[in-house]
Amino acid sequence: MDSEKLRAVASAIVSNGKGVLAADESTPTIKKRLDSINVESTEPTRRRYRELLFTTDGIESYIGGVILFDETIRQSTIDGVPFARVLSERGIVPGIKVDKGAKALAQYPGEKVTEGLDGLRDRLIEYRELGAGFAKWRAVIQIDEHDIPSPSGIRANAHALARYAALCQEQDLVPIVEPEVLMDGAHGIERCEEVTSRVLEAVFSELDAHRVLFEGMLLKPNMVIAGKKCARQNSPEEVAEATIRCLNRYVPAAVPGIVFLSGGQSAEEATANLNAMNAMGSHPWEVSFSYGRALQTPVLAAWQGQERNVAAAQQALFKRSRLNGLARYGKYSQ
Ligand code: 13P
Repeated sequence: MDSEKLRAVASAIVSNGKGVLAADESTPTIKKRLDSINVESTEPTRRRYRELLFTTDGIESYIGGVILFDETIRQSTIDGVPFARVLSERGIVPGIKVDKGAKALAQYPGEKVTEGLDGLRDRLIEYRELGAGFAKWRAVIQIDEHDIPSPSGIRANAHALARYAALCQEQDLVPIVEPEVLMDGAHGIERCEEVTSRVLEAVFSELDAHRVLFEGMLLKPNMVIAGKKCARQNSPEEVAEATIRCLNRYVPAAVPGIVFLSGGQSAEEATANLNAMNAMGSHPWEVSFSYGRALQTPVLAAWQGQERNVAAAQQALFKRSRLNGLARYGKYSQ
């Protein structure tokens, strides 16, 4: 394990106000996104869409890493340049989603555990050869009645995240550790804080037990936020206060960066919440973004699958990237 390289790559992804573009939708998920604009999901349409994203001029000022899917890291521009090379030549680190999705956890109805550890070492070696500098694994935690998530469900997911992170570092890939507490449901912000606290505590305990180098990883958590169906939604200042309190308690200062997922927040909400956190002052870690939908929804809306709209779609990506770049310094205003 090359600790210096891991530290350098993890820090570079979040340096100078930069964040991450999550473009690692699996084939079923990208189909949903393309369906929303009536574009058929085929290998050529997925390739065209990803080329549009990765060749947008100027995003390298705000985007330090892009997460790719297995199909995408093997694809190239129309001119034959592999996507991983297009990105790295612009100073953007290519990354790869390596989990195999969240599956039902046996004996725990309503809970899931993420699969993908079998054969992972060999897959990581191949991805590194294809140009990846980092990887991502997403655990999914649902909030439901009082006993969901269970301690066993949290522990199973934390353990898998830690085994994944240790394997990544063994192969000199920076792990992005993503324990996502979903915003589905009617729970309030307090319940989200309680569950996120238990999850982060378990995750860092397992990471430590598996000898993961905190300086050579990034954390991709949910924000502490009320469920989508909760009648009381909170202001960005309230979300920021609860989220930073929770992270201060459970995330070691040695971790170089927190890169939030957007999780179903609108593009504007995700930027406003990130801005409010950075407006509070400085934190032990870079407080940044790794947004999928909050960066891409406006791009899809502008593109509509039409060549004549490519420039407008790229402008939409540049705009969201720039605004999240401002939010990294607490300088965004709606
Ligand atoms: P969202 O920002 O759309 O939640 O996607 C981020 C991601 O990579 C989820 O794994």
